[in-house]
Amino acid sequence: MSNVVSISLKAAMDGLAAEVDKAFDRLLAVPDDPRARLYEAMRHAAIGGGKRLRPLLVRAAANLYHVDPAASLRVGVAVECVHVYSLIHDDLPCMDDDDLRRGRPTVHKAFDEATAVLAGDSLHALAFEILGEPDWQADPFVRAELIAELARASGPAGMAGGQMMDIAAENQTFDLATTTRLQQLKTGALIAFCLEAGGILGKLPPDGRRPLRGYARDIGLAFQIADDLLDVEGEAANTGKAVGKDAQAGKATFVSLLGVDRARRQAQMLVEQAIGQLASFGTEADLLRTIARYVIARDR
Ligand code: IPE
Ligand code: IPE
Ligand code: MG
Ligand code: MG
Ligand code: MG
Repeated sequence: MSNVVSISLKAAMDGLAAEVDKAFDRLLAVPDDPRARLYEAMRHAAIGGGKRLRPLLVRAAANLYHVDPAASLRVGVAVECVHVYSLIHDDLPCMDDDDLRRGRPTVHKAFDEATAVLAGDSLHALAFEILGEPDWQADPFVRAELIAELARASGPAGMAGGQMMDIAAENQTFDLATTTRLQQLKTGALIAFCLEAGGILGKLPPDGRRPLRGYARDIGLAFQIADDLLDVEGEAANTGKAVGKDAQAGKATFVSLLGVDRARRQAQMLVEQAIGQLASFGTEADLLRTIARYVIARDR
């Protein structure tokens, strides 16, 4: 991991990554029947890779309100299911056509396209199954709100809608406002869900969730600018995925619109703004502050 990651953040990320891996290992036990290949593909995508940033954001936000860590893990795994599904489909030949993800062959390369589509579909469904189960959360209103919010963040008003705009960005020149909207949907919506989930689990009234919403909006945008910068300046050996793809596809990104220097300054400004949103919190929000800095300092 890069030397820009503080020791405490590294410990938090490593610890949570182990928890998430263990949860997926339990959820995705391979059956002894013809569905085995589907489970193997889901395991290939979901276990042992990725920064697990979204589960970490859920945990960090939920910890502000002293939520049971088992509950924040459950919600973190649900959002990671949607994220991993989105990556499997994003890499398909009909979308970004990528061979490498998290340092490994993409699912359609390691398996085949039909299996990759089904592995994505199944992880998408699994997210809602694990939120809907009553055993982890006695309050049905909390379960229902989490399910509705994650569905909204994943669908046409969220990630999937952003992916549609992203495809359109190959053939159209979007201005800065439209590009911002694209990024807010494609990447920002799931990140925003993570912070919102902290407030839902903590049973905060909606207006009490405002500072975390501002924080989420700012780091979501900064996160995608960093992803676009890594596509230009990063190395596949660190990122675990091909670089140089956005320019090759002629995709409008913050970097293509602003240039590398202005895009980086914009991301830095957003991170400072995100930290500013946490002014009403004390040291209990230090992990969220550290994550905000990491979002743009990362090399993977
Ligand atoms: C990559 O997300 C795709 C985007 C939404 C930009 P991450 O950078 O969080 O990927 P992993 O989970 O660490 O692999
Ligand atoms: C994909 O964005 C975001 C989602 C999967 C929703 P990118 O296409 O930029 O992500 P990478 O760079 O392949 O990880
Ligand atoms: Mg893409
Ligand atoms: Mg991609
Ligand atoms: Mg990218």
